[in-house]
Amino acid sequence: MEKTRVAIVGMGTVGTGVAKLLLDHGDRTARHAGRVLWLEKAVVADLSKPRTIDLPAGVLTDRVEDVIENPEIKVVAQLIGGLEPARTITLKLLEAGKDIVTANKALLAEHGPELFDKARSLGRSIAFEAAVAGGIPIIANISQCFSANQVQSLLGILNGTSNFILSQMDESGADYETALQKAQQLGYAEADPTMDVDGSDAAQKLAILAHLSFGSWINWREIPKVGINTFHATDMQYAKQLGYRIKLVASATLINDQLELVVAPTLVKKGRPLAEVRGAYNAITVVGDAVGDIFFHGQGAGQMPTASAVVADMIDTAVGRTDITFRRLELWSQRDSGIALRATSLLSSRYYMRFCASDKPGVLAEITGILGRNQISIASVIQHEPTTVESALGTAANQVPIVIMTHQAPEGAAQKAVEQIQQLETVHGPSIRMRVLEK
Ligand code: NDP
Ligand code: HSE
Repeated sequence: MEKTRVAIVGMGTVGTGVAKLLLDHGDRTARHAGRVLWLEKAVVADLSKPRTIDLPAGVLTDRVEDVIENPEIKVVAQLIGGLEPARTITLKLLEAGKDIVTANKALLAEHGPELFDKARSLGRSIAFEAAVAGGIPIIANISQCFSANQVQSLLGILNGTSNFILSQMDESGADYETALQKAQQLGYAEADPTMDVDGSDAAQKLAILAHLSFGSWINWREIPKVGINTFHATDMQYAKQLGYRIKLVASATLINDQLELVVAPTLVKKGRPLAEVRGAYNAITVVGDAVGDIFFHGQGAGQMPTASAVVADMIDTAVGRTDITFRRLELWSQRDSGIALRATSLLSSRYYMRFCASDKPGVLAEITGILGRNQISIASVIQHEPTTVESALGTAANQVPIVIMTHQAPEGAAQKAVEQIQQLETVHGPSIRMRVLEK
């Protein structure tokens, strides 16, 4: 059978999974590709590190030149994380005539235009199914299966680490640090997990999905984002009492030729599909004008789910399918989509608000008065006598938390009202405001 020689650059969590699939299930890949995907080289930074896979003699190397200078290698899975040296190595691989498969969303969100321009000018391709939502085939679905539609909205959970942490805190009462460490041990988190927990990783993935769905190239830094790194477990308990779970939700909505993008911890009604997404799973609802809504659910991080997406891309690249899609889609080209970002102040949502207030007459009236003057209608209020939940907040003896659920209100008004409430002498410490999702 014909051979396509391939290489892996970066043999960490994902690269090792890719090598396992290529070596242990070569028959499967050969059946789908009509040729053997022959693993010629696997590049690492540190040859002395112990590996969890035995590679055939001569495959492992710490010299990326062994791939760049080998004209026989046609397809390279570029699986180094972060921006540099990933960017420089990817450019060198393209210049050396290789087609690229990558899972590195940070690289694409930051340097997509440069890399895709380079690939196009050299007649090469870049496939990136694994860069968004790990094992869920969301890139292929949006770029191919939805092509008869105008996508109207995307809504989902795009970071496995954050969802894993929130699930652990919710289900087993784990504290934030312990849950994060577990996510790192299980290979879900990035080498530096900052971008997982501050919402950046989800914003980068949302920028990629928005580009595919709406044609506009969004700088991921312009997407309003809040992560789970400042999150307080107490809010999870209040959300539970109110019938909600808290999820890090990423959304993109097309409103009158403007795109509303946001990443933020959000209360999602229990029983709704998104509220029941657990562990490192991801989920995305895509709404198209012809097809209606479709819900995708699957493992968004982890070795084998991500490797599954990478190897599928390697097969598509080896047989020439990627090339056709790549050329048709003109990804990250200078083409203007005519779609602008919608101002954050125009967002509209129900809100969960928590204030820590002095326990004395008239305080609740002051708070609700400010909400009323900002045209924000209250749906419910919780103010318990100090109990375990309240003492977990560390509030002083004469202070109590007040939790308010609002009806639909503009983001600008909600933000202004919380700022004004925060100014009250009777309100202490940081106030919390989160969006609420009913669907
Ligand atoms: P790891 O940190 O586990 O692995 C990175 C690999 O890159 C290591 O093998 C490292 O070598 C190698 N490397 C680093 N620098 C160099 C260099 N200069 N030259 C050669 N090799 C180098 O990352 P992951 O496998 O977790 O992630 C890889 C990419 O996939 C990232 O972009 C990540 O965002 C993305 N991704 C990860 C998912 C996951 O669940 N982990 C899911 C979806 C996407 P050494 O082993 O010697 O240190
Ligand atoms: N660190 C990422 C996450 C990996 O947790 O979602 C998948 O992109």
